[in-house]
Amino acid sequence: MGDKIVKIFEDSVSLYKGTADKIVDIYTEAVKNIGDFTIALSGGGTPKKLYELLATSHYTDKIDWNKVKVFFGDERYVPRDHPDNNSKMAREALLNHVSIPESNIFVFDTSLPPQKSASEYAKSVKSELGENYPHFDLILLGLGGDGHTASLFPWTPILKESKKMVKQVFVRKMGTYRLSFTYPLINAANNVIFLVSGSSKSDIISEILDDSANDNRYPAQGVQPLGQLYWHLDRYAASGLPTG
Ligand code: 6PG
Repeated sequence: MGDKIVKIFEDSVSLYKGTADKIVDIYTEAVKNIGDFTIALSGGGTPKKLYELLATSHYTDKIDWNKVKVFFGDERYVPRDHPDNNSKMAREALLNHVSIPESNIFVFDTSLPPQKSASEYAKSVKSELGENYPHFDLILLGLGGDGHTASLFPWTPILKESKKMVKQVFVRKMGTYRLSFTYPLINAANNVIFLVSGSSKSDIISEILDDSANDNRYPAQGVQPLGQLYWHLDRYAASGLPTG
């Protein structure tokens, strides 16, 4: 596990460009070494512009989407066509605009009960990436104001999961189930990029990236991948950091 690499970008436009460029680098390395590229996309609002950028010709010229396998690091327990569904957002922003075979897109089946949906998804992860802890080439993550990432929310039992790779979690404050990668799967990744934008995240970023606070109060701090960890921030999200 190497130390984290924190990159602060001047604004959100350069944040998305810098992240798209890093994705191309990781993709190129993976395809050179093993012939394909496995990525787990994050949800929420922040990555939407990144996905739209990846759908532009500048990037589609650099990525052969036939060699890309797309998973989702977490999903809301809503139907696939629900406006809150992460895979719906990713399809509309990116996947519908690139030549990726449908068989390369792995979405949660939220028509199943939560536990079954999670276990079936874990099976698809294993079948595509191998039985032992599968190493995603890249897992993209966002950060919530409470320090959650994926659907690893503070004080929830999923944080203690040390065996299962994908789990369901009832998020009391939302009154709904979520489906999420667990720490064992996230931390087996070759690369993890946190993508964080906007001044609303500056407080939590300061809490999490202030190395003097060596507590582990926030779920995002449990992301300590075997591979390389990147924090990609715009200067607004980084404004509370000593160098921000
Ligand atoms: C989700 C995400 C979640 C998200 C954060 C930040 O399903 O919502 O996986 O972890 O990344 O909540 O969300 P925003 O980008 O909308 O601030």
